[in-house]
Amino acid sequence: MTATSLRTSPSPSATGGRGSYWITTFGCQMNKADSERMAGILESMGYREAQAELEADLVLYNTCTIRDNAEQKVYSYLGRQAQRKRVNPNLTLVVAGCVAQQEGESLLRRVPELDLVMGPQHANRLDVLLAQVEQGQQVVATEEHHILEDITTARRDSSICGWVNVIYGCNERCTYCVVPSVRGKEQSRLPEAIKLEMEGLAAQGFKEITLLGQNIDAYGRDLPGITPEGRRQHTLTDLLQFVHDVEGLERIRFATSHPRYFTERLIDACADLPKVCEHFHIPFQSGDDEVLKAMARGYTVDRYRRIIDRIRERMPDASISADVIVAFPGETDAQYHRTLDLIEEIGFDQVNTAAYSPRPNTPAADWPNQLSEEVKVERLREINALVERVARQRSARYAGRSEQVLVEGINPKDPEQVMGRTRTNRLTFFPAARAGGGQWQAGDLVEVRIEEVRAFSLSGTAQP
Ligand code: SAH
Ligand code: SF4
Ligand code: F3S
Repeated sequence: MTATSLRTSPSPSATGGRGSYWITTFGCQMNKADSERMAGILESMGYREAQAELEADLVLYNTCTIRDNAEQKVYSYLGRQAQRKRVNPNLTLVVAGCVAQQEGESLLRRVPELDLVMGPQHANRLDVLLAQVEQGQQVVATEEHHILEDITTARRDSSICGWVNVIYGCNERCTYCVVPSVRGKEQSRLPEAIKLEMEGLAAQGFKEITLLGQNIDAYGRDLPGITPEGRRQHTLTDLLQFVHDVEGLERIRFATSHPRYFTERLIDACADLPKVCEHFHIPFQSGDDEVLKAMARGYTVDRYRRIIDRIRERMPDASISADVIVAFPGETDAQYHRTLDLIEEIGFDQVNTAAYSPRPNTPAADWPNQLSEEVKVERLREINALVERVARQRSARYAGRSEQVLVEGINPKDPEQVMGRTRTNRLTFFPAARAGGGQWQAGDLVEVRIEEVRAFSLSGTAQP
């Protein structure tokens, strides 16, 4: 997982009053969305954004513990700040997110300079927790907490593409994964609250919303209500139908999907609802049934194939991305090769790959059949090469085609270009200058003729 600094330029609306803050975010979109809300809370408290991490009066690391290397990165960042705090006792140091939840009190023992350790369920309470810190306490907030609707406005990174949480937590028990223990039980937001947030974003000019959940297909399981036909009243399919017509929005996406719960009804709704984009992120984790069983994923490779077939029946050009783990405990060479074969067979547009990393409080970490570091490195290297080759083949289909691109902004590597994404989520670059004069702006929907294809991005020119 990569570390991203939330912002690089100061907020014009910030008025100051309490000093400056800096947030660095590690991990997944869930953490990024939490960081945006925490930044909003800090600004409403009178903090303004710092120009540089080492100048900030309050530093918040929103952490990830999905793999060991993600966790270790946090400790190296923290070491630097702890040193600063020894010469500047007014510095406020906060660790939020999944490492905070996992380590709790023991983080304070490891880094005594910390002021606040707060789990992800407490993100919306940052102001309350900081008030306790201001009274001179060292605070640890990791108890199970019902996530409250946030009344502050998130300080969002983009003004075009926004994230909206729909379900927090995860009730699955995949044997390798820390998420259920750090993110807690599933908590779905009410459809009305989700729609209200989306309407607010659309009114501000947002064009694309990604609905978020670790296991988004589980949306609504914890909400009451049964339809006259005996179905659950609240499902992701019903939610998509409910929010689809928010005026001003052009595109709706959702992630992450679990193959166990991905229904035909959902596929049909995606095909029928014009704003829902033809891109599906459905991690398969392994191409071998025995490994899937050991992972406790609750589906077979065949079931996965049927989902993809059905998607392609209804949306032939849909793009498919996934996550996969190699070198899971006991994974044989033959089992690993089934994963490679599946990548080739499905023809994924993008696959996030990882070598298995043993995590605290997960069953697989205690199994005796762990694979060596050499096997992990070698399998990861080989699978990455395959993923790139398959993605390149998939990209080839765009050559010469015209694709609708939603402009997100200037290409940071070439200010003459703008960048955006196709409906299928391929990053696309094209000249910023418009034929009749002026420039393409963030939020414009542009038909782009694709002239150059690469494994994970495209380039072209705007159609007249
Ligand atoms: N909820 C999603 C994924 C959440 S975590 C799902 O069920 O698919 C993101 C990805 O990290 C996972 O899909 C998995 O591929 C990877 N991952 C999780 N735990 C891991 C571990 N212990 N070692 C290596 N990769 C892991
Ligand atoms: Fe982890 Fe499995 Fe939940 Fe995904 S579904 S977050 S992999 S436990
Ligand atoms: Fe990492 Fe927590 Fe997300 S462990 S992947 S930040 S849910």
